[in-house]
Amino acid sequence: MKNKVSGFSKLSKNKKISWINKTYFKGDKNSLLTLKKYWNNNQDLQKIHDEFAENTISNFYLPYSVAPNFLIDGHNYTIPMVIEESSVVAAACKAAKFWSSRGGFKTKILSFKKTGHVHFLYKGNKQKLNAFFKIIKSTLIKDCNQLSSNMKKRGGGILQIDLIDKTDDLSNYFQIEAFFDTVDSMGANFINSCLEQFAKSFKREAHLYKGFNEKEKNIEILMCILSNYVPDCLVRAEVSCTIKELNEFENFNPKDFANKFSKAVKIAETQKVRAVTHNKGIMNGVDAVIIATGNDFRAIEAGVHAYASKDGKYTSLTKISLINGVFKFWIELPLSVGTVGGITNLHPLVKWSLNLLNNPSAKQLMKIVAVSGLAQNFAAIQSLITTGIQKGHMKMHLINILNTLNANDKEKDLLINHFKKNTVSFNSVQDELVKLRKIGI
Ligand code: MEV
Repeated sequence: MKNKVSGFSKLSKNKKISWINKTYFKGDKNSLLTLKKYWNNNQDLQKIHDEFAENTISNFYLPYSVAPNFLIDGHNYTIPMVIEESSVVAAACKAAKFWSSRGGFKTKILSFKKTGHVHFLYKGNKQKLNAFFKIIKSTLIKDCNQLSSNMKKRGGGILQIDLIDKTDDLSNYFQIEAFFDTVDSMGANFINSCLEQFAKSFKREAHLYKGFNEKEKNIEILMCILSNYVPDCLVRAEVSCTIKELNEFENFNPKDFANKFSKAVKIAETQKVRAVTHNKGIMNGVDAVIIATGNDFRAIEAGVHAYASKDGKYTSLTKISLINGVFKFWIELPLSVGTVGGITNLHPLVKWSLNLLNNPSAKQLMKIVAVSGLAQNFAAIQSLITTGIQKGHMKMHLINILNTLNANDKEKDLLINHFKKNTVSFNSVQDELVKLRKIGI
């Protein structure tokens, strides 16, 4: 087969690159240079990155930004954000500043449990299975003692295990559902190791159990895996102020602003077409902090969006109330994050982010992430219902357009100034640049 290679992962980095270059770039030297330009001169640092994943051939940069002035539960934070979208950090800063003079963000951990499952098939009498599970439950937990001893020392461990009948969904299908407290780690390895041990012990004990016939002893383990759906690992963040205090928005009196804002949230609550975009904006704030702190944004995304449809209909993650002249706006998010383990200790910038946040516990990080999501949503709705989103977006995007058009520093300064009062679009920027170049500036 064309472009096929065997033993690729065993080749050196240089050999991998040269195969790719020959096969896909016709040996173009620039293609090699592009990859190598992003290698780090510090060999030790580069080695750490090379070893994060298989077949690493270069590094992929994203901007690392910070958003100061976040007042959360009475403490000031500067939040690290890794994101390429031009307007997100500016929006975070704006919302942080606005709320810092209105009491700041208030947060609360609502629950702190993570789940995983042993998925298995059992062909036999259900009552017998229930009776068997009651007998061996403590053995399942005891067999994990060695695995869970460190977690226990840190104050966590296995919280609970249950047998769940899922035969209505799939014939002969059951689950052992387990709940864990993984303290400050995301806990994926701990959870998966415990689940695999449960499965081993479960099978062993089933073979020994006198109450089962041969068919019943033959439990078939399908898989053991944590769930990224974590509705029991929930954090709430909230802002509130009197409606009168919503007094910073051009051409809007506070009451009109609050009413329009509330309608925008209600639309996201009821209309899936809007809810998805509304929540995407929230995830701009969430993911940026999740990435900066070395957490798994795919897990967070999957869990959060599943939570947004927990009642059978995809809906807004933020909620609003306007009662007795008070504007209250809040979010509840399922977030399984870690501040120890994973790459937290390996990636120098992740470590730096955690230092910047004063080395938070997992619970504190959940709060900061939820605040970032709420702030982002506040800023997005504020723009949408006042100036429209494009004004801010295009202002931030202007520099990308100028770079795409290879504008020099002087041209950039002049055009940034020009577009303070004019509408930004790719064509308008291009036209202005052509004009500048014609008159020879
Ligand atoms: C863009 O990345 C995010 C927004 O579309 C969010 C929203 O519409 O609420 C601005």
